[in-house]
Amino acid sequence: MSQALILCVDDEPDLLDTLRRQLSRLGHQVILAGSGEEALVALTRHRPDLVITDLMMPDIDGMQVLERSVELYPDVPVLLITAYATVQTAVDAIRRGAYDYVPKPFTHQQLMVVVERALAQLRLQDENRRLMEQLTGEHDNLGIVGGSASMRRVLEMVRRVAPTDLGVLITGESGTGKEVVARALHRASVRADRSFVPVDCGAIPSNLMESELFGHEKGAFTGASTARAGLVHEADGGTFFLDEVGELDGGVQVKLLRVLQEREYRRVGGNKLMSSNLRVVAATNRDLEQAVKDGQFREDLYHRLNVVRVVLPPLRDRPEDIPILLDHFVARERKRNGRGELRFSTEVRDLLIGYAWPGNVRELLNCCKYVVGLAEGPIVHVDDLPHFVRRDLPAAAPRTAAQAAVGGASSGAEGPPVRVDLPYKAAKRAWLEHFETEYIVRLLEAHDGNISQAARTAGIDRKSIQRLMKRNDLSLDEIDGDAS
Ligand SMILES: Nc1ncnc2c1ncn2[C@@H]1O[C@H](COP(=O)(O)OP(=O)(O)OP(=O)(O)O)[C@@H](O)[C@H]1O
Ligand SMILES: [Mg+2]
Repeated sequence: MSQALILCVDDEPDLLDTLRRQLSRLGHQVILAGSGEEALVALTRHRPDLVITDLMMPDIDGMQVLERSVELYPDVPVLLITAYATVQTAVDAIRRGAYDYVPKPFTHQQLMVVVERALAQLRLQDENRRLMEQLTGEHDNLGIVGGSASMRRVLEMVRRVAPTDLGVLITGESGTGKEVVARALHRASVRADRSFVPVDCGAIPSNLMESELFGHEKGAFTGASTARAGLVHEADGGTFFLDEVGELDGGVQVKLLRVLQEREYRRVGGNKLMSSNLRVVAATNRDLEQAVKDGQFREDLYHRLNVVRVVLPPLRDRPEDIPILLDHFVARERKRNGRGELRFSTEVRDLLIGYAWPGNVRELLNCCKYVVGLAEGPIVHVDDLPHFVRRDLPAAAPRTAAQAAVGGASSGAEGPPVRVDLPYKAAKRAWLEHFETEYIVRLLEAHDGNISQAARTAGIDRKSIQRLMKRNDLSLDEIDGDAS
């Protein structure tokens, strides 16, 4: 990596300019961002090899830039520049995944040493990965995590079509990873070192859409005090990601088709023919075929976008991916938050695998963020799960038989009811929960309420016994009183 792509973020124009000069003299490509906001935009469009950011900036600060960068590109080193007074924050930042920090003021020499070291480490990582891939035959998953047959097919498809300029339409429920796939297509293409420009077609009002996409000339409409290039220009040479493409209105659809077919467009209020060479990837969770039938979406544009179709199945249809995603996100969030060991109990794992995940991978990610943020650990129990997950878990089985057991009637306890009013998995879970209550009560009875002994027999630690008791509303008094 003699030539690296480096994103520099600082709200002081002078410093930014110095960085640009020094880094380009070493042959690196530099993207400049004059604020945290600009940095976040730049990060969605480029995958830099290194990020250098000031820590203290108004509104969006270096910490948020760091967070976003680690989220999008966990392997990309982030270097913080910070005044002496904020060194403590910088140390905190390192715990959250920053590579290093440089205190202000610094000399050219000092900065370049750290930059070179970061890039050298990156080269080493790349080299290691390549060797690993050669050894194991496994390839980079392009940011698409999952091991189910359906996701392997998706990854395979992405690899095959990425090098081409074919239109790709990605469909799937909300949160299934449509944008992840779009980014993967860009990363695996020859356009990878150019911009990835996402456009949320549903979020931009249709009267502004045309000038957003194609730009406008000065005076094209009230408020257009200067000429502006549009997103189509920014995506030149790169990938244009049309999210919620079904929301585009008819007029814009025509112009877009023209860009795709002839690579030509005009700015709003302009006559000059402009050109842009972009590759389009589109996504929707609407039924685009129906929209075509209803005359809301142009058939010719539809065919252009839908040359290759990638269908992302909902998470509930690929439960094999759930444990893989859980481990992946928990590891990533732990790294971001500088948290120690955290593992799901088998019970929680089973619950989460059986859960329907209506919000798909996004909901699962939020669940992991919640757990990493709030669970005491090191083992994650049901009580540690967020309410949105717990709310939809099936209710626990009635505890009457077990409660009777607390009263000393253990021998007479009946087997748990098998609930045929529930779906199979939920019924099984309810039955197992019943087992848990029964087990912990009898275990404690057998050991006269001695938790240490009970823990030894059960082969779990004291804390887990206490958790089990708490979850089953048991106190030692009950056990002590009855078990003598
Ligand atoms: N296979 C995956 N591997 C890693 N991360 C994933 C995967 N699928 C989804 N994610 C993560 O889940 C979140 C939602 O994914 P994404 O934004 O791509 O969904 P989407 O299908 O575009 O949803 P929407 O229709 O709501 O826009 C993101 O944070 C994304 O990084
Ligand atoms: Mg999306």
